[in-house]
Amino acid sequence: MTIAPHTLPLPPVENDILPAPLPDTAFLSRLALRRSTKVAHLQAPGPEGATLEAILRIGARVPDHGKLGPWRFIILAGNDRHAYGQKIAALLSARGQVRETDRLAQEENRFLRAPVVVAVVSSPVESPKVPEWEQVLSAGAVCYNLLLAANGFGFGGCWLSEWVAYDREALALLGLSPHEKLAGLVYMGTPTEPPSERPRPSAASRLTYWKADEVAT
Ligand SMILES: Cc1cc2nc3c(=O)[nH]c(=O)nc-3n(C[C@H](O)[C@H](O)[C@H](O)COP(=O)(O)O)c2cc1C
Repeated sequence: MTIAPHTLPLPPVENDILPAPLPDTAFLSRLALRRSTKVAHLQAPGPEGATLEAILRIGARVPDHGKLGPWRFIILAGNDRHAYGQKIAALLSARGQVRETDRLAQEENRFLRAPVVVAVVSSPVESPKVPEWEQVLSAGAVCYNLLLAANGFGFGGCWLSEWVAYDREALALLGLSPHEKLAGLVYMGTPTEPPSERPRPSAASRLTYWKADEVAT
């Protein structure tokens, strides 16, 4: 089944009354069993057109202290995935960091691993009220929300950073300014196989209850 994006609610406007939270087993079951799709298991088709727009719109609906919108998207799709790969391969080659032709070809093809790659850019703004940390966290929430929105349309997704996210020259080639960081590259496509569970920490293993009589004084 495919979902036509126009069947979704229109973007609400300020002060619209929105649906109150309701018990929703389907929603909870999705979250309870959610998994990323390995990038090696993503193939065409990926989301495009109005579907991709809807994924971005839903993805951007995240908690955002001060309504600053301290993030933005850069989409790598079509031939531009390879063109950017060529640029980062040339960068590594010019630095003498990578010489082997097969490793350079791997870099050239890095973004061809999925039909669509959404770069989520953390783009904090000066604010007397909202610390940069909170703005960065909001960008992380966008990455996660994109995964959920892609899943809702039946696409798989995977949030990766890899070396590109930490290389200022590669980021400049992608279009980032020096004050910006890459929150993640969200690869999206059609899963070739269903994901299997991986070990994960239980919430209980990370839980304590704060007790007044155990506080160090
Ligand atoms: C900020 C961030 C960056 C990540 N970068 C990578 C990465 O570069 N390579 C990688 O294999 N997994 C990376 N991951 C992990 C995957 O996105 C994913 O969490 C993991 O494969 C298991 O996913 P699941 O628990 O969503 O199924 C990253 C996760 C986060 C939150």
